Amino acid sequence: MPHKIAILVGSLRAGSLNRKIAELLVRMAPNDLSLEIVGIGDLPLYNEDLDENAPREWQAFRERIRASDAILFVTPEYNRSVPGVLKNAIDVGSRPEGASVWDGKPGGVITVSPGAIGGFGANHHLRQTFVFLNVLVMQQPEAYLGRADEIFDESGALGSERTREFLVNFIDAYARWVTTCLAAFQRAVA
Ligand code: FNR
Repeated sequence: MPHKIAILVGSLRAGSLNRKIAELLVRMAPNDLSLEIVGIGDLPLYNEDLDENAPREWQAFRERIRASDAILFVTPEYNRSVPGVLKNAIDVGSRPEGASVWDGKPGGVITVSPGAIGGFGANHHLRQTFVFLNVLVMQQPEAYLGRADEIFDESGALGSERTREFLVNFIDAYARWVTTCLAAFQRAVA
């Protein structure tokens, strides 16, 4: 059975570069991964007052993440940090206290931007959050995809062979990371 990977995309924009990269990764992934984008745009803003009677969108989202073996974040940087829509999804998944869906999940991050530094700020702010949430995030290879508005040709296909190789290498390394983490976890509970 392939490992089930939930992809969270930090942009809701119809023409999102991040979504295009996420869709490419779904197709490039090796056979031992099954990737699916989980929508986050319909999640009501997190509010502790709603914890006792959680909105059905929160419940469905938490279930989907809980049922995944690992998570992959593909996100732009907004104002040198994580877009609010993605931070909201992370906060929703982290509660109620003691029932976080992120705890112990293997993770990966790729940030995608038309800018030169490839969303470095968002990438590392996410990593800071993952320390607290105990997401086992892959460290290497790091993935800051800059100048991302230049890598697709007029038909919308990936025009850059260098970027294709980079993405294949990234998703192969991520697959190995997920397999290693899950095997270590199974040994620990055996
Ligand atoms: C941006 N953008 C941006 N880019 C960047 O590299 N660093 C940044 O801090 C920001 N800040 C920022 C804030 C806000 C509110 C917006 C709307 C945009 C530009 C951003 O990278 C660009 O719009 C990307 O194309 C967004 O990703 P998608 O929607 O193409 O996936």
